[in-house]
Amino acid sequence: MTNDNYNNRVVIFDTTLRDGEQSPGATMTHEEKLEIAELLDDMGVDIIEAGFPIASEGDFKAVSEIALRSKNATICGLARANYKDIDRCWDAVKNSNAPRIHTFIGTSPLHRAIPNLNKDQMAELIHDTVTHARNLCDNVQWSPMDATRTEHDYLMRVVEIAIKAGASTINIPDTVGYTAPMESAELIRVLIENVPGADQVVFATHCHNDLGMATANALAAVEGGARQIECTINGLGERAGNTALEEVVMALKVRADIMPYHTVIDTTKLMNLSRRVATVSGFPVQFNKAIVGKNAFAHESGIHQDGMLKNSETFEIMRPEDIGLSETNLVLGKHSGRAALRAKLEDLGYQLADNQLKDVFFRFKELADRKKEIYDEDLIALMRAGEDAENDHIILMSLEVKCGTHGPQSAEMNLVIDGKEVSTIAKGDGPVDATFNAVKALYPHSARLQLYQVHAVTEGTDAQATVTVRMDDNGNISTGQSSDTDTVVASAKAYLNALNRLHIRRGRLGEDKKEINYKDTAV
Ligand code: KIV
Ligand code: ZN
Repeated sequence: MTNDNYNNRVVIFDTTLRDGEQSPGATMTHEEKLEIAELLDDMGVDIIEAGFPIASEGDFKAVSEIALRSKNATICGLARANYKDIDRCWDAVKNSNAPRIHTFIGTSPLHRAIPNLNKDQMAELIHDTVTHARNLCDNVQWSPMDATRTEHDYLMRVVEIAIKAGASTINIPDTVGYTAPMESAELIRVLIENVPGADQVVFATHCHNDLGMATANALAAVEGGARQIECTINGLGERAGNTALEEVVMALKVRADIMPYHTVIDTTKLMNLSRRVATVSGFPVQFNKAIVGKNAFAHESGIHQDGMLKNSETFEIMRPEDIGLSETNLVLGKHSGRAALRAKLEDLGYQLADNQLKDVFFRFKELADRKKEIYDEDLIALMRAGEDAENDHIILMSLEVKCGTHGPQSAEMNLVIDGKEVSTIAKGDGPVDATFNAVKALYPHSARLQLYQVHAVTEGTDAQATVTVRMDDNGNISTGQSSDTDTVVASAKAYLNALNRLHIRRGRLGEDKKEINYKDTAV
């Protein structure tokens, strides 16, 4: 490694599009992946892990296109420890200005048992696969999956083999979120001090959040000598997720006094990215989430508000502007004009052409007729509703629901499916059940409802409800979302949104369906 690697610059490796997107239900469309990659590149992320090319046609295409489009970031793809995976990965990333192959294998006793390899056989495989990757690409990252549960002597042995075979980044994953800060720092320290050649490579940390320690563990690993943090926006990822990018980046910025390391992330872009990832993944950000949660900068109690008015530092360790939150949440209403709407949307990261603004303005006025005050969150929901609409194959024309204390409830629904109008009346156990039964009657399908979730976009009884619906069509997972001041209408639209997305995906020959998961062994 160059001397720079032990200086204080921490490289940010974002895996929202690979480890984040791989989590069930977080599937993104091709266009959404391209958009997120562009935003990450723009924000200054050093390395984007854009996908797992062998997993599906969709992953391959997304990684290839991101590789072609990205301006600054290194574009990385994931590959298991076999030549076929590595070749496919190289095909996907090779057109990037700065390509990287990331290959891995599970090295802990539990993971070694899956392909049924003994220690020597696995060591040989690591040598061969890293060598193969290095023959294709100058920039190879190697990961011993489940490193934190791998015997230290064996871990040192295989890390040395990977370095000798040409890996320039060694990632130490805490795959199951098992480690704790002191141990995380110590493990990296032990490797750097004891493995021959360790001073020639960059050590990376990749932490999962099963015990809620991912951010602390990643920062501790940096203390131990790691100079690459692997993370995702909003901590997106399977189970309890990954290290949250916004948390490690802001922790390093705010506490530079005790953690003298820095990244080159433009933190004013964090909020916008967080919102976009929440929207496209269908995984909302919890209100009290550090940095990007809705309440992260809200000061409700009297004492807090008084202190804030006198001096914002009384209760704030960062300024909202540092993460791209505008200082004032300017509220729009039915008298607001196009210029105010455009300014507000630009503030939220949406650049609109005149014709797009015209359409959004129309829908904004419709909403403002039903809702007195329009907040940022309302506008984000409005923008999301417009995104898919033009490609919709099923459209909701009307919905009348009869509710009462003595059910069953009924829903009278009109849909347009591929240009043809159809209608029905269906009963159900509650208004949402009746509505979903009406959809099923008009558009029979085998997709199963996996998740139905409602949350209020803002406060007040006139608040819009955002409904998230996740459907599973034989392993093909689709998330739909919609917002409306009427919860049942939002539910119907979210359900249709999920079905429309499934339809688009099927039309693309299942391109987004992962044929394999990175956890499947293929050695
Ligand atoms: O958690 C993990 O171990 C991974 C590897 C593929 C790096 O995601
Ligand atoms: Zn992981």
